[in-house]
Amino acid sequence: MNKKVEKAIWLCFACMPLLMACSSSKPAAHATSSLKEVFQDDFLIGAALSWTQIAEKDAVAIPVIRQQFNAATPENVMKAEKLVTSWGNYDFTQADRFIDYAKKNNLAVNAHTLIWHSQMPAFAKRIQNVDSFRTFFSEHIKKVAGRYSGKVQSWDVVNEALNEDGSLRQSPFLNLLGEQYLIDAFQLANAASPQTDLYYNDYNNEQPRKRAGCIAIVKMIQQAGGKIDGVGIQGHWHLGKVPFKEIEESILAYAALGVKVAITELDIEVLPRNFTGAEVSQRMKADANSNPYVSGLPENLQQQLADDYSRLFQLFVKHKDKISRVTFWGVHDGQSWLNNWPVPGRTNYPLLFDRKGQPKPAFYSVIATKKK
Ligand code: XIL
Repeated sequence: MNKKVEKAIWLCFACMPLLMACSSSKPAAHATSSLKEVFQDDFLIGAALSWTQIAEKDAVAIPVIRQQFNAATPENVMKAEKLVTSWGNYDFTQADRFIDYAKKNNLAVNAHTLIWHSQMPAFAKRIQNVDSFRTFFSEHIKKVAGRYSGKVQSWDVVNEALNEDGSLRQSPFLNLLGEQYLIDAFQLANAASPQTDLYYNDYNNEQPRKRAGCIAIVKMIQQAGGKIDGVGIQGHWHLGKVPFKEIEESILAYAALGVKVAITELDIEVLPRNFTGAEVSQRMKADANSNPYVSGLPENLQQQLADDYSRLFQLFVKHKDKISRVTFWGVHDGQSWLNNWPVPGRTNYPLLFDRKGQPKPAFYSVIATKKK
């Protein structure tokens, strides 16, 4: 036999196991199971969508969204800062596109968010007069919740009203309107959008002190005769430090109030961070060690991520009767806000799909929780 041909045949045989291993360990995203099917009897599976995704310009995300999710939250386009152009003037172009996109892709909409101290229009932050501020507050809820009434399944009515110790945050809402603003926000949202589930949403509200504050808010609204349907636990957690015990205690405690629980912004930070939570105004200084995995996440951390997600979903499935939805804060790692917060320009790996839209080991470990 010709030496060249002989070498080619040998090479082919030698590489066969490798080729087979590669093809079986890395199936294309479209060939795998899907989250929404696997958890269809348990809870909705959502993702936060960026404007690029809503505009159908993120080619990596398009098939992943279609295949994997049955719920969506707008990452930014429904925030007051994006909707309100000046006093009384609104631009709903992007938010309307989001609603259309969700409808087209059979995604249940969780609208986010009506009342939040962050990402507010600049003029609203400057209002000192109580009556003017009350007008802005009430008109905003009426106009935005009213526009999407019947089109959204749930609203994050109030976002992040609590401090870590469970007291109410000194926001313009609290300072100008007093704690009654919480009752009023839910009442106005219900009047404008009566078929919609109304949620209070926060980060770290699985932690005991903040949880107590969150329970107090729910009770205050209920005792005033208001309608509150659920509590959102954002779920911005950290690799190897997910507070499983506190999460379970919180699911039970919120459910005991007669409200649903949603995990609304799930991601797991894998990069160095010197604080927990998701206070968007907080920043961290970059140093030589703050962006260690630019060329890939080490295998042991990839496995830890898979383990953390697996334990989380085992917990969620255990309490599926109390959980309405689990939403990831992003579709794939390339889109995650954690690439730019609290340090800009890092390479982060907090989600189930990688930068090419391929499922990561964490995806398979989540799917496998249903077989346990
Ligand atoms: C984040 C978005 O992901 C970023 O794109 C934006 O720059 C800042 O806000 N808690 C929330 C979300 O409720 O609205 C935040 O989203 C993340 C923390």
